Amino acid sequence: MPKKIIIDTDPGVDDSMAILFALQSPELEVVGLTTIFGNVFTPLATQNALRLVELAGRPNIPVAHGAELPLVAPLDYVADFVHGRDGLGNTNPPPPQGRPLNMPAAQFIVETVMANPGQITLVPVGPLTNLALALALEPRLAENVAEVVLMGGAATVNGNVNPAAEANIFHDPHAADVVFAAGWPLTMVGLDVTMKTVMTADFLASLRASKIGQFIFDIVQFYLEFHRQSYPELGGIHTHDPSAIAYLINPGLFSTVAAPVRVATDGLLLGQTQPDWRQNWHTPNPWTTVSPANICVDVDSAGLRALYHQRITAGG
Ligand code: BDR
Ligand code: CA
Repeated sequence: MPKKIIIDTDPGVDDSMAILFALQSPELEVVGLTTIFGNVFTPLATQNALRLVELAGRPNIPVAHGAELPLVAPLDYVADFVHGRDGLGNTNPPPPQGRPLNMPAAQFIVETVMANPGQITLVPVGPLTNLALALALEPRLAENVAEVVLMGGAATVNGNVNPAAEANIFHDPHAADVVFAAGWPLTMVGLDVTMKTVMTADFLASLRASKIGQFIFDIVQFYLEFHRQSYPELGGIHTHDPSAIAYLINPGLFSTVAAPVRVATDGLLLGQTQPDWRQNWHTPNPWTTVSPANICVDVDSAGLRALYHQRITAGG
């Protein structure tokens, strides 16, 4: 039985790479995409999510439009300098044919999870606002998901927005603190592993053997150029959002440790994910301890790349 997943996403070049990876993987059944700001503003994320399901020949997968602002913090900018003004590497694709659901993302998450208790895995690869709103709408959500596997945070390495914070957490740290403290089974696929797996320009060119791989090659050029300028020694791109999908398909590619995590919601370290290696973090209510997150700390990068290549080029 494939795992039923909802991908919560801000596409975004690496989000697109992740969504197409999931759609090409028989172990996973994508039951919906929900959208969020981050790499682009939410309306464009929704348009891009619709474009992606159409490109993959899966236009019936529902897309639900998500929150347009963080819970508390202001939305000062989106990362179009990383992903292009269109979020797809300035390739200017045609408008999608379809429309989003007539239901906000948080409500779609609640209704889908509660209709399929214990069966839905939530896979946020953007800021965590929709998940925090869904928890507020339905407090029983946490007991009814199968698990949460998120791309975000940095447990043992520096952030990528600044030394403290990773981008998805930085964009809505208040929502992230709610999500990490919700008591659901949660795996964090953070910069600790996503920056270890580099896809070189040659590797990305080798994906062109399929139609979907050609699309990825086209949109990734802008993202590759950003990496060339920001990380001149790297020789490729970091593999952020596709790593969360790889974890779902084959968790054996990763090493993990368990520790509760909280998120700094103000000050210099705003957006920092802080694990407590002594297993003792409390929520704002001092009587409630935070349950441990499953934190990915190492990865078989060659194995991950081989899996990605096989799935993206399968079927021509
Ligand atoms: C995360 O931030 C976004 O730019 C990427 O899509 C990824 O989800 C990496 O920090
Ligand atoms: Ca993302």
